[in-house]
Amino acid sequence: MNPTESQAATLPEGIAEVICDAEAIGATTDLLAERIATDYRDRKVLVVGVLKGALFFTADLARALQRAGMAPDQIILDFIAVSSYGNAHRSSGEVRLLKDTSESVEGRHVLIVEDIVDNGHTLHYLRAVFGGRGPASLAACALLDKPYHRCVEVPVEYVGMEAPDEFVVGYGLDYQESYRHLPYLARLHPWVYRD
Ligand code: IMP
Ligand code: MG
Repeated sequence: MNPTESQAATLPEGIAEVICDAEAIGATTDLLAERIATDYRDRKVLVVGVLKGALFFTADLARALQRAGMAPDQIILDFIAVSSYGNAHRSSGEVRLLKDTSESVEGRHVLIVEDIVDNGHTLHYLRAVFGGRGPASLAACALLDKPYHRCVEVPVEYVGMEAPDEFVVGYGLDYQESYRHLPYLARLHPWVYRD
């Protein structure tokens, strides 16, 4: 068995190829954390992870911020949950807030943490929601950016890496709610979409 065959043999059903492994995701997260820790040097930041997709990234980023030198009381973690309508591959403009923050946003330095920014609707909606609540500052961090099909211009202050112009799963990203738990980013076999 050659290396490609042995790798394919150990991949979960439906996964065609790993496009970014856990080590590369970790290195990207550390670089982002260093930039954020520098920018928020003397400030407390309310880190708001967007569920479900940013679950793992938010957790890993928070720990990377600590390694990058932020003090324990500088990092406050919170989560929101949104659902975007559309098909399994792409969200529509209609975004709904399913779970709000438990922390108050007013007067806080808010950092929205997203898995991926694609057409931009989700982040655009979230920036409007949080921006209307009187934060001291508002910024967004996304592990992945897909700039190819942007429908709305939306600032993303911290971008981990550009994603290929195709559907990716793993590390929080799902296809019909599956594959989120995989520790890497991967491409699916085309047959998965046909079933
Ligand atoms: P948008 O910027 O409004 O398109 O929203 C981004 C959301 O679309 C993400 O939070 C994901 O839920 C979903 N999404 C976009 N591209 C992908 C992908 O390649 N894999 C999995 N989910 C994606
Ligand atoms: Mg999704």
